[in-house]
Amino acid sequence: MKLPIELLLLSFASLASSASLQPRNANFAAVLGLTSLSTDHSTPDDDALSDKFFHEATFDGHYDGRFAEAKLPDDTRAFHLQLLLKSYVDTMDRIGIRTWIMHGCLLGWWWNGKIMPWDNDLDFMLDERSTRELGNWWNMTVHHYTAKDFGFLDPIVEEEEKAVQVEPLQHTTTAAKAKDEGIAIRKQFLREEVAKKGKKYLLEVNPNYINTSTNDRHNVIDARWIDTATGLYIDITTLHTSPP
Ligand SMILES: *[C@@H]1O[C@H](CO)[C@@H](O)[C@H](O)[C@H]1NC(C)=O
Ligand SMILES: *[C@@H]1O[C@H](CO)[C@@H](O)[C@H](O)[C@H]1NC(C)=O
Repeated sequence: MKLPIELLLLSFASLASSASLQPRNANFAAVLGLTSLSTDHSTPDDDALSDKFFHEATFDGHYDGRFAEAKLPDDTRAFHLQLLLKSYVDTMDRIGIRTWIMHGCLLGWWWNGKIMPWDNDLDFMLDERSTRELGNWWNMTVHHYTAKDFGFLDPIVEEEEKAVQVEPLQHTTTAAKAKDEGIAIRKQFLREEVAKKGKKYLLEVNPNYINTSTNDRHNVIDARWIDTATGLYIDITTLHTSPP
């Protein structure tokens, strides 16, 4: 069981940094017990972005470089985004935080109740009180999810899923059939990976969320829910109410 050590490391890292506001997200050393990488793939500090808190991966803006070294194939990404969404919504529900979907995520839900296949990330919003609660109580916490939490390997849930699946289109070519079979095999493999290792998600809150200025273009993202195995994340933004 590795989790307690990671929690200890993370809480130590946040204690050490609580004396002053960090201009940048927790550094690579602070997440060493949690990431599987040996080097950081985040964009380096840059004078023009010196006040920016969250940084992205050097190879793609939709991955966190502390936890990812390469982009994932489309169907693998879609699989992990679904788990990201479920784990985030379940956690917020459990700890009593009201949150709602935005942007591409909202459009996907409106059109067919799903994540759009080309989506790279997910966007949510919070009200100010909720971001404060996450910042004060849940910053840098790691949340562990098992296959069971996702409903995998549960015959009842899997049957229900199959029942709602749309009939696949008739395959016109053997190549199309082989492609679909390939996707199904990879999905099964990904589920087995989750069954073996589980998934860990990190919640990190940008201390600049208190800044209500619309000029702060670098810190429009107030918190992130990060998949520590793939570097995929949910962008979370605070809705500030302005006085009338
Ligand atoms: C959350 O923790 C990180 C890492 O220690 C720190 O940089 C950041 O300022 C903290 N956020 C809040 C809202 O305190
Ligand atoms: C809020 O952000 C703006 C734009 O980056 C900056 O000029 C201002 O100093 C910030 N305010 C606080 C209280 O940090």
